[in-house]
Amino acid sequence: MKIFLDSGILDEVREAYDTGIVDGVTTNPSLLKKAFENIKGESIESYLRKILKIAGRTPVSLEVTETSYDGMTKQGLKLYNKFKRSGNVYIKIPINTSFDNNVNFDGIKAIKFFSKKKIPVNVTLIFTPEQALLAAKAGAKIVSPFCGRIDDFIRKNNNLKINKEEYYPSDGKVRGSKLLDDNGVVSGVDLVAQIVEIFDNYDIKCEVLAASMRNARQVRESALAGADIATLPFNVIKELLNHKKTQEGMKNFTKDIVKEYAELWN
Ligand code: E4P
Repeated sequence: MKIFLDSGILDEVREAYDTGIVDGVTTNPSLLKKAFENIKGESIESYLRKILKIAGRTPVSLEVTETSYDGMTKQGLKLYNKFKRSGNVYIKIPINTSFDNNVNFDGIKAIKFFSKKKIPVNVTLIFTPEQALLAAKAGAKIVSPFCGRIDDFIRKNNNLKINKEEYYPSDGKVRGSKLLDDNGVVSGVDLVAQIVEIFDNYDIKCEVLAASMRNARQVRESALAGADIATLPFNVIKELLNHKKTQEGMKNFTKDIVKEYAELWN
C-alpha cells in the first residue's frame, strides 16, 4: 500500500519525504488554511512549488474551490497548467458539489472533462461505494473515501461520545450495542473494503485512497481491506512506528551493551 502525507505544512512534507517512505501528498483547502496560518510574506504559488519540488515525481493533489462545472474545469486547468512542469499534479474534484439534497453532476462532468484530457483526477468527499463507482466510471484515477469522517458520522448519529483519534471498530459492533451503520456502511474501513470489492468485481482501474485517517489501526485495516493508498496526517505516520514494547526493548538493549561489543565501532 502506498502512503501519502495528508498535509499542506511544508516542514512536515520535508520531514516525511526525508524518511523515504512517502509516495505522495494530498492537500485540501482546510489543510492549506492551517499551513498558511503561520506563513507571512510568501505567495501560495511559491509555497506550493516548494511542496511539489520535494514530492519529486510523486503525486500531489490540489483541490479546486469552485462548485460549478465551468468553474471547476477553469480552475483545474489553471492549476494544472501552472504546475504541470513538476509532472506530479493531480486535480482534486469533489464528487458532488451541492450543499444540500439537490444533487448535481458538475463534479462527475468535471472528472470526465479532465480524464478526456489525460489530466489525473483524485475524487474527494467519497462517503458511499456508489459515489466511488460513478467517479471511477467518469474516469477518476483515484477515489478518496473519508474513513474518519464516516466513523464520526456513525458515532454522532448514535450519540456515541466522539473522540476523533480513538479507534472505531471496523465491523461496526460497538461494545454492548447493536450493529451501527450508515446505509449499510458500518465503518470507514468497511467503506474502503466495499469500494475495493466493487472495483475488483469489475476490474476497475482506479486507485482506492483511504483518506481522513485517524489512527494506526485504521491504516492497518485499510491495508488488509486492499486499499491502494492511505493518506495520513504526519502524527499518524509517526504512530505507525510506536509500540510500548519497542520502547522497552530499546531501553534494555541499550542497557545491555557490553564494553567489548561497543569496542567494535572504535
Ligand atoms: C483527503 O484527501 C483529505 O484531505 C483528508 O484526508 C481529510 O481528512 P480529515 O477528515 O481529517 O479532515
